[in-house]
Amino acid sequence: TYHRILSEKDNYGASKMGEGKTICLDYSSINIAKPFHIGHLSTTVLGGALYRIFNYLGYKVVGINHLGDYGTQFGKLISAYKRWGDKETIEKGGIRALNELYVKFHQEAEEHPEYDDEARAYFKKIEQGDEECQALFHWFKDLTLKDVQKIYDMLDIHFDSYAGESFYSDKMQPVVDELREKNLLVESRGAQVVDLEAYNMPPCIILKSDGSSLYATRDMAAATYRKNTYDFYKCLYVVAYQQNLHFKQFFKVLEMMGKDWAKDLVHVAYGMVSLEEGTMSTRKGNVVFLEDVINKCIEKAYKIIDEKNPNLENKEAVAEAIGVGAIVFYYLTNNRIKDINFSLEEALSFEGNTGPYVQYTYARACSVLSRAGEVVDAPVQITTEEEAALVKTLCRFGERVCSAIADYEPSYITRFILDVAAAFNRFYHNCTILGADDPAVRASRVKLTEATKIVLGNAFDLICLSKTEKV
Ligand code: ARG
Repeated sequence: TYHRILSEKDNYGASKMGEGKTICLDYSSINIAKPFHIGHLSTTVLGGALYRIFNYLGYKVVGINHLGDYGTQFGKLISAYKRWGDKETIEKGGIRALNELYVKFHQEAEEHPEYDDEARAYFKKIEQGDEECQALFHWFKDLTLKDVQKIYDMLDIHFDSYAGESFYSDKMQPVVDELREKNLLVESRGAQVVDLEAYNMPPCIILKSDGSSLYATRDMAAATYRKNTYDFYKCLYVVAYQQNLHFKQFFKVLEMMGKDWAKDLVHVAYGMVSLEEGTMSTRKGNVVFLEDVINKCIEKAYKIIDEKNPNLENKEAVAEAIGVGAIVFYYLTNNRIKDINFSLEEALSFEGNTGPYVQYTYARACSVLSRAGEVVDAPVQITTEEEAALVKTLCRFGERVCSAIADYEPSYITRFILDVAAAFNRFYHNCTILGADDPAVRASRVKLTEATKIVLGNAFDLICLSKTEKV
């Protein structure tokens, strides 16, 4: 029965199975000075959910935003800023202004190839610790992080580390040395590579012909650093499937180096997101800024709520919870590997299998409870099929949380929520709760409603979906 739910409350479904184990969770991992677009949201919400689910099962989770903050593009930005930028515009415009500078650089560099040389020189200066270049680079970084923080706040997502690619600048040499010592490096057209033909993969490039490092080199240094620092049980990378080969390659190279922990590295891949035609107008440079999508969703949610329930208090806050929740839920509905075509209309519908629908169901349970008053202390009685089905569904929570972890699939929680919502709504429509004649039956049904509220609330928390007491 559901007694355990009522007594364990917030802890119902939690466990200590992960005690003593650390999970490194590389997610969101944005690129500095680049727009946060609709595709980046997948890693952010998937990672945010995995973070909470692992935590719930007693694991220690280290959330890492592996910032893309390394490469000649930062030299380009400095060059562009010095030529066309001004402080105030950038301060005000944040990522958008930086992105405009970047786009302009590319347009102009077509006619002025010497700009590219200049950019390379600036990047070198950043690396060598030149004061002015370092200061500009850090400023771009701070501006970007301040901008995305708004999104992280809305989603209620946190990181324990922002060690990005540049953090590993001085940690790659030992990796290169070790590869050389183990005779794994071969020269190929001037570059230093690890041959992976035996594994049916193209070679993994470690150093370019000019001696500079690559994305894979930095990832190998990062994995090594994480193992040494956190002694992880698993290190997860929530990254799009476009990068499948990259992960397979550097995991394999670490294995060839004899790192037995290479088997604990997991690429948690996800599908592509496209935006339904006409949902948003694209700006210059064809990027859709996530912030615009979220704001549009909140606006639409506000309209819907205003029509449904004009006298609701805190309409703004509820609209934010529903608008953001609609997006989060939509992203987490299907298995992560599936491509999705994001539709605002669909995400916001109160009728489909959506965030608004489940949030509304939660509010419905809250409303029953607030009207119930004190109930008599009577034993649980299950007299109808609907009640039995609801109890059975609720009690599956713990098992669902465990499978979500085993397959790295927050969508299991989302679908569990939909199952609970459906079972509760059937119970709500077919069984009289507050109007039940027999006080013992009434009490039992109120308690079942409370159990539903608890389980839904716990599940919402796991996928970063806000709980709305009133809609
Ligand atoms: N910044 C990269 C991108 O946007 C993702 C980084 C993922 N993490 C990693 N350790 N490679 O494509």
